[in-house]
Amino acid sequence: MTESVLEVDGLTVEFPTEDGTVRAVRGVGYRLERGEALGIVGESGSGKSVTALAVMGLLPATARVRGSVRFEGEELLGLSDARLSDVRGKGIAMIFQDPMTSLNPVHPVGYQIAETLLRHNPDLKARGARARAVDLLGTVGIPSPERRVDAYPHEMSGGMRQRVVIAIAMANDPDVIIADEPTTALDVTVQAQVLDALETARAETGAALVLITHDLGVVAGHTDRVAVMYAGRMVETGSVEDIFYTPRMPYTLGLLGSLPRLDREEARLTPITGSPPSLLHLPPGCPFAPRCPLRRDACDGAEPPLRPAGGDGHLSACHFSEELVGTGAGEVFEAAGADSAALARFAEAAPVNTPEEDAV
Ligand SMILES: Nc1ncnc2c1ncn2[C@@H]1O[C@H](COP(=O)(O)OP(=O)(O)OP(=O)(O)O)[C@@H](O)[C@H]1O
Ligand code: SF4
Ligand SMILES: [Mg+2]
Repeated sequence: MTESVLEVDGLTVEFPTEDGTVRAVRGVGYRLERGEALGIVGESGSGKSVTALAVMGLLPATARVRGSVRFEGEELLGLSDARLSDVRGKGIAMIFQDPMTSLNPVHPVGYQIAETLLRHNPDLKARGARARAVDLLGTVGIPSPERRVDAYPHEMSGGMRQRVVIAIAMANDPDVIIADEPTTALDVTVQAQVLDALETARAETGAALVLITHDLGVVAGHTDRVAVMYAGRMVETGSVEDIFYTPRMPYTLGLLGSLPRLDREEARLTPITGSPPSLLHLPPGCPFAPRCPLRRDACDGAEPPLRPAGGDGHLSACHFSEELVGTGAGEVFEAAGADSAALARFAEAAPVNTPEEDAV
């Protein structure tokens, strides 16, 4: 039997502003099993970070949050700050895009790792914490950790700093790591090193992972399941194979369009035109409709619910998802150029055969 370590249900976040209410997250739900890795993918503004911050209890006080976030069965929404800070770090650790938001510029990195260790393990002595900090730096692939332990964040490169943040995240053996665009600011080679460090952190701690990214190439290699977000909602979710080989939502097809299919001869980039709707004034009906090549009148009536779309746990929010069976990105969207870096990463990570091919 699998055991959920994190369960998010009906999560809704609204921000009252002078211009009206921003409906940033609209009924997001997911279950994360122990040790599992979930990728959350979507364009800028789709609500990925707000969802993560709501889980961590880190939203500004003005945010209106509803729904449920249970960590190991305990409801986190509405919990006291003291209890939440206990969960943060030890139970759920978060890694942000910019390591400088997590690191303190005035302290050496080893001091900061030791501080995290001592906060949650009062019995640990300072010397033990320093030794463990050196170990952790070595684990995340920092060369000469005995020396680097005394370095300040500004003496390190961006990739090194992000590895320090991963070391801090794994310091207290968390059950869940939430990484919000951990590699976005880094170049491709350094990205790969940081993702390797994240894999090591998972292997060492057994932590489940929520990996937030706009890059489908990253989720292909590093997660088991994927949730695609659009306009504050999950619009498709399933295994990596479901999402890559049998997508059932035109938006997912559009995202995949920026990755040429390995099972086709042609390599095409098929971008989605237009931009996401304003979360201040969402029209009725499907929020993807203004950009959807399959849109028809029925799409403007009711917002499509997330419903089963084939395989076990594969859900999609499209009134016409059945019509996408066997459809590839290139057939739905306009063709353009190719993103060779994403292709190379995907080619390394993706399974060679599609499940459909295996079945034949
Ligand atoms: N404090 C806030 N007040 C008002 N609106 C906010 C606030 N924080 C976020 N939003 C809005 O909520 C929506 C979702 O933002 P979020 O940061 O979750 O997007 P994202 O998917 O993480 O995008 P990105 O890929 O750019 O990081 C956006 O429209 C954003 O402007
Ligand atoms: S419901 Fe209609 S507009 Fe929305 S994704 Fe499906 S086909 Fe496109
Ligand atoms: Mg974000």
